[in-house]
Amino acid sequence: MLLLFSLLFCFACAQEPSALYLTFLHDPATSMTIQWHSEKEGDSELLFGEAASSERRPARGHSRRLPFLDLAIHTLELLSLKPDTLYSFHFPDNPDRSYTFRTLPQRLTREVRFVVGGDAYFSFSLFHRMNQTVARLNPDFAVIGGDIAYTAGRLNFLKGKSDPLTRWLTFFHTVTADFTTPSGRIIPIVPVAGNHDVSKKERQQARGALLFDFFAFPRQTLSYRQLDLGNYASLLLLDTGHYAPIEGPQTLWLEAALLSRKHLPYLFAAYHVAAYPSYYRFTSKTSTKVRSAWAPLFEQYRLTAAFEHHNHTYKRTYPLLGGEPHPLGVPYLGDGSWGVPPRSPSLHPYLAKTEQDNAVWLVTLSPGAPATATSYRINGQPLETQKLTKK
Ligand SMILES: [Fe+2]
Repeated sequence: MLLLFSLLFCFACAQEPSALYLTFLHDPATSMTIQWHSEKEGDSELLFGEAASSERRPARGHSRRLPFLDLAIHTLELLSLKPDTLYSFHFPDNPDRSYTFRTLPQRLTREVRFVVGGDAYFSFSLFHRMNQTVARLNPDFAVIGGDIAYTAGRLNFLKGKSDPLTRWLTFFHTVTADFTTPSGRIIPIVPVAGNHDVSKKERQQARGALLFDFFAFPRQTLSYRQLDLGNYASLLLLDTGHYAPIEGPQTLWLEAALLSRKHLPYLFAAYHVAAYPSYYRFTSKTSTKVRSAWAPLFEQYRLTAAFEHHNHTYKRTYPLLGGEPHPLGVPYLGDGSWGVPPRSPSLHPYLAKTEQDNAVWLVTLSPGAPATATSYRINGQPLETQKLTKK
């Protein structure tokens, strides 16, 4: 009986976490943030080391129990890692189950690939199918450009089993299963806020939103930030007014961030509501604000591309300068159709290509070739490829 009890106990304590995901708080060449869920608080420990070696070192993070849920969220940041290196880690109670991640290079010495898409977990089946395509693309990380799990601002009849917590948990259980490349490497997630990620009530509360409970951000509740990729690229991750207003501090920060990164060969922006929409009205309040506050900065600092979402279509604009096609303009790529039923796009003179289809973008930065952005349909087929101009 004692043996049976011990075996059962060991089986229970060796269970894998119900959710395990990676994100970045600091330099993706030298750090990685690992988050996981458990019923118990405390013991935010794991052992890690280079995958090529058998040496493993302990690391400790912290956990926080959500007051309204029987769940602890663990956050552990590994620092001082080697760039461009495959790492392996496991939890102390389950040494037989290891996980891997890869740091980014500090210089563009190998191909760096990242996926950008938005409007993700609306339909479970579409989300799950697109995740398979994303994983097969073998990206270094994936940016989810808002409307991550559709947890806020939905009509009452959509609630019930789709209440915010259930949806967040389903999202994390799904990415835990799906965000792994064919070689078993976990794909880090870079979240961006959208209108369905933060409710009005959450915005008014001092403690912040569930988005910040589930995802570690470099500064808790500061929804906009940068993700610098060594000396070759930077992504400006912006908030189109869902938690932080567009004008004021965020726009001032954006200008300073662009100025201090103008020497980089590639500069990208990713945010939720499109400046150049493919479904919604061109004159909508938020689109107008993005065009007046941010688009002139994008043009001034020769942004490589802006990734936009929210419209539930596929779109690519012409490179735009002052709203007109121009060879030195900024291309706006979108338009938020990761896991939502795709809509029929509108006609606008700035749109070079649109489709009513689910798609994500894959950016490829290569040491010896021009950078590209290739869109992929939900079935994994490439839709089109654009060369990206080096600044
Ligand atoms: Fe949206």
